[in-house]
Amino acid sequence: MNITVQQGGIQTIAADAIIVNLFQGVTEPAGATGAVNKALGGAISELIAGGDLRGKQGETAVLYPRGAIPARRVIVAGLGKADKFDLEAVREAAGAAIKQAEKLGATQVATVVHGGGTGGLDLAEAAQAVVEGTMLALYRYDAPRAKKEEDETRVESVTLVEFEAAKMEAVEAGARVGQIIADSVYLTRTLVNQPSNVATPTAIADAAQKMCAEVGLVCRVLDEAEMQAEGMGALLAVTQGAAQPAKFVIVEHRPAAAAEQQPVVLVGKGVAFDTGGYSIKPWEHMGDMKMDMAGAGAVIGAMRAVALLNLPLPVVGLVPTVENVISATAYKPADVFIAKNGVSIEIISTDAEGRLILADALCYADTLHPAAVIDVATLTGAKAVALGVRTNALFCDDDPLREALLAAGQKVGEPLWRMPLDPAYDRQIKSNVADIKNSGGRGGGAITAARFLAHFVGEWPWAHIDMAGSAESGSGPEHTPRSYMTKGASGVPLRTLVEYLRSQSKS
Ligand code: BES
Ligand code: MN
Ligand code: ZN
Repeated sequence: MNITVQQGGIQTIAADAIIVNLFQGVTEPAGATGAVNKALGGAISELIAGGDLRGKQGETAVLYPRGAIPARRVIVAGLGKADKFDLEAVREAAGAAIKQAEKLGATQVATVVHGGGTGGLDLAEAAQAVVEGTMLALYRYDAPRAKKEEDETRVESVTLVEFEAAKMEAVEAGARVGQIIADSVYLTRTLVNQPSNVATPTAIADAAQKMCAEVGLVCRVLDEAEMQAEGMGALLAVTQGAAQPAKFVIVEHRPAAAAEQQPVVLVGKGVAFDTGGYSIKPWEHMGDMKMDMAGAGAVIGAMRAVALLNLPLPVVGLVPTVENVISATAYKPADVFIAKNGVSIEIISTDAEGRLILADALCYADTLHPAAVIDVATLTGAKAVALGVRTNALFCDDDPLREALLAAGQKVGEPLWRMPLDPAYDRQIKSNVADIKNSGGRGGGAITAARFLAHFVGEWPWAHIDMAGSAESGSGPEHTPRSYMTKGASGVPLRTLVEYLRSQSKS
């Protein structure tokens, strides 16, 4: 999609639709909305007075100027209550408005920067949020269909219109950041939406390599022989039943100016499909497990954004990717394997596979002398039981890293909640035949999974994000309805990772 920025009054712009806004409770619109209202002879005030428009979050109203201004349609987006206004409200309003515009068949759309006037937000951040909300709402997965849907028009261009010349630079900068991030989320969503016969470990590695070639990142892919040489016995256990070969992707962003700095390492769980293995999952929801590589998808997308945003700090993305399937060569309960750091693992459940591939990836991260390591994984159903799907579990006992991640998640609308990493839980994963076992039973399942990972963490700040359930957006009661979430993959927590890295680049 084409995103541009233009200076002027939005009431002067020729477009299929222009988007202005309204806070809840405002009866006489000011600013850009006021200018449009005036040009339309008070038509917006009339809608408000008649109770047809309240300015509620998610609400939209459509007006037809019929020649009073060059635009063919005016869409008023509700911003909700002024005292609850934040960047999430901007994304939400932008998403709702653009969906309305697309439904009406608009292809050329212009919008004000919600919150850029009286909202009290940082203007660049507001512009970024407008672009994110807009683009993320319009994402579509290009499914293979014999018959393409025909009479559907797509929004082709969106222009952010700013009245004041002095503010143009901030709007342009924010819009650029928003576009990079949203395009990166597109990449993630598509990878996660693809079924596992398409997004195989090889295809995931290929997608990472293609992305790296496009944005100028260094990419290395280890094959199984190389993983063997690295001693990655835990990862190889999971893949030993698969016909699809496992891959271990290493993506490096190393800006010359920060050559001396230690990298932040991102690790993403890349289980292309999780049948559960011999500890097989019930059939009803097994298909959901095509998105068990959402952590991997988020890390690949985040690395793209890191490169294009030119972040002045070194970042390395690690993506261990495998299929967890059944065959004569598959691993079995009671098998014992040795991870890269020598820790031996008794398999209780072949369905607790994510922690096994992450174990070796964390050991590999140690060889990079990291400044910090963050792993993201659809790791446990227990996480979704504990916190639902709206909020993700954050396991991190390093105060600065945890506070920065909590703040980043809050800011981008991907909330995180702190969970315990108390070593007292290690009793649940004690094994009689190995150092540890890969399942700690039902109680505190997300915590014992995190404690399992802790056995592969070195002397560096570490955060583990269990994002089970939130890789996909849905329409059930457990999902917060959001205008900029589309059916299927959400792209979570890519924006949290990027926001965290941006905050680290500033400080
Ligand atoms: N990929 C699943 C976790 C999951 C479940 C993600 C639902 C998203 C939605 C993971 O590999 C798994 O199967 N975990 C087991 C662990 C158990 C066997 C210790 C689980 O949560 O049941
Ligand atoms: Mn599993
Ligand atoms: Zn899994």
